[in-house]
Amino acid sequence: MAILVTGGAGYIGSHTVVELQNAGYDVVVVDNLCNSSEKSLERVAKITGKEVPFYKADILDREALENIFAKEQIDSVIHFAGLKAVGESVAKPWEYYENNITGTLVLLDVMRKNGVKNIIFSSSSTVYGTPDTIPVTEESPKKECTNPYGWTKSMLEQILTDIQKADNEWNVILLRYFNPIGAHKSGTIGENPNGIPNNLMPYITQVAVGKLEKLGVFGDDYDTPDGTGVRDYIHVVDLALGHVKALKKIEEKAGLCIYNLGTGVGYSVLDIVKNFEEANGVKIPYVIKERRAGDIAANYADATKAKNELGWVAQNGIREMCEDSWRWQSNNPNGYED
Ligand code: NAD
Ligand code: UD1
Repeated sequence: MAILVTGGAGYIGSHTVVELQNAGYDVVVVDNLCNSSEKSLERVAKITGKEVPFYKADILDREALENIFAKEQIDSVIHFAGLKAVGESVAKPWEYYENNITGTLVLLDVMRKNGVKNIIFSSSSTVYGTPDTIPVTEESPKKECTNPYGWTKSMLEQILTDIQKADNEWNVILLRYFNPIGAHKSGTIGENPNGIPNNLMPYITQVAVGKLEKLGVFGDDYDTPDGTGVRDYIHVVDLALGHVKALKKIEEKAGLCIYNLGTGVGYSVLDIVKNFEEANGVKIPYVIKERRAGDIAANYADATKAKNELGWVAQNGIREMCEDSWRWQSNNPNGYED
């Protein structure tokens, strides 16, 4: 039996395929490569020494999905495929709802028609909106999202919850990721954003490599120790290992489960700059800018539930995250492009 990984050529997907193969799982990837390169999977195969069966297909393409389920013995699905650029989702809400929500509905329909009712879904800490108290637990209320991308995550959580409630043969695990950064230790796979990065760490590494001049720090007047935004950064390999643990939970008949995947530690923007400089001996020039619309002051996870129920704890600290992000970027200044 194999695990179908949708979006497996992407940043988190490719790292998860490595850890799944290392743990002995057979993996099949489907990805339309709209935000990734097939080269990531070639590099995964170099790391693990195992081929990665790959279908270039869109999850909106029902026939293509039927074909994969007919050819492969799929047991469970880890569902990463989706569009994730917050700003773009504000400009193109229809495209985000179509791709993320309709795409998932098609996938779920093909799954149930083939008797496959195990799914792990990539959700986000964005479903907590502006939390009343931090750290957030899985019981913290879901709040208003500030953009259509966030709403797709919040709505898909509801859709998956309702489907599991109606048919308890389904095992659904919703993983709420905090802020994934870092890269595989080999430095051969990593995050490869299109154009100018929106997220903090890829922006920093592109400043470090000389592609961008200086970092803009979005606000230094938040109610945080140094005034800059605080987040729970988590190493992408730890995040990937969380999926392996979640699969074990599925094998024990999970029903519906929700887990925060974070470290439980918050770092400010300036903490990240300082740690990156110290870990890598590179200077990151920065300038303080206006707050970014939609940003919150601080958020970090209470990750106790994942520890107690999955036996999962993030192992890498901020230094490893900074070193590994830089190893990937400095070895691959243009990502997967030659
Ligand atoms: P990514 O863009 O690197 O990976 C997503 C992959 O899905 C890409 O390879 C893309 O080509 C593919 N894809 C998109 N739409 C598709 C479709 N219709 N059919 C087939 N393939 C499609 O992003 P990532 O950072 O690896 O994120 C993976 C998942 O985790 C996403 O669902 C994202 O929303 C979620 N997530 C990411 C973060 C983060 O900070 N990176 C945080 C929380 C949640
Ligand atoms: C953002 C998204 C979130 C998404 C996540 C991963 C918003 C409001 N939230 O989270 O939905 O799941 O990315 O894609 O966009 N910062 C700077 N300068 C920069 C970039 C970022 O100062 O150039 C700051 C931000 O203000 C924030 C922190 O760095 O305080 C982290 O930002 P980012 O990496 O974009 O992640 P989030 O905003 O937490």
